[in-house]
Amino acid sequence: MLTNIPRHVGVIMDGNGRWAQLRGLPRVEGHRKGAERTKELIKAAQEVGIDVLTLYAFSLENWQRPDDEVTTLMELLQLYLTRELKDLIMEGIKFRVIGDREKLPAVIQAIITEIEERTSANKGLTLVIALSYGGRDEILRAVKKAISGGIRPEEITEEKFETLLDTSGLPAVDLIIRTSGEKRLSNFLLWQGAYAELYFTETLWPDFTREEFLCAMQDYQRRERRFGGIMSPSES
Ligand code: IPE
Ligand code: IPE
Ligand code: MG
Repeated sequence: MLTNIPRHVGVIMDGNGRWAQLRGLPRVEGHRKGAERTKELIKAAQEVGIDVLTLYAFSLENWQRPDDEVTTLMELLQLYLTRELKDLIMEGIKFRVIGDREKLPAVIQAIITEIEERTSANKGLTLVIALSYGGRDEILRAVKKAISGGIRPEEITEEKFETLLDTSGLPAVDLIIRTSGEKRLSNFLLWQGAYAELYFTETLWPDFTREEFLCAMQDYQRRERRFGGIMSPSES
């Protein structure tokens, strides 16, 4: 039985393209394999008992990729969401999307809204997919909401501001995992990850297994989170 479980884990699922290239396959095959991988991770997250799992699936910057890659990614996404809908509902998962969804194809926006509505009363794991997401953009959109809502400067607190973010109501992210050896955040959960623990692995996303996720959990359990304070005497 694990103790000291992170409440909110974010995963930057990186390395699909390299996984495919290493096998002489087109990049999209890596995305296909990567999409399949998420199932095992979601199961593992449920097993461990974390509250929120946020998967970075497509960044705002990813819109700059070649048209055919973006189109295939959107097709894969539509297929994945349609196929998983029943399972998500059955397993009691609460589904949510963060990001600038207006940039997504209308059909995907409609599927997202349907899944969000149909899983909104679920009490299990909250599964958040970051789609067309950028942390800076999310913060800017929140600032715009504050201004257009007529909030006065003295009314703005961190708690109030958080209610304007896409992640409103969700806890801060405790642990961010990034696969594929890159050691950067790439615009992921900039506000929410201010005090996140970071876990980097060389494993490419399509090879990331339940076992490795559990290793990341164990690694997290050994971390000492101080939040700028000092260790309490009882812990030293
Ligand atoms: C992550 O894999 C998936 C998306 C960004 C959509 P990449 O496509 O970035 O794979 P690499 O980093 O090129 O290997
Ligand atoms: C970050 O990966 C975004 C996702 C995993 C969805 P990228 O591959 O787009 O990030 P960079 O370009 O290496 O920073
Ligand atoms: Mg990448």
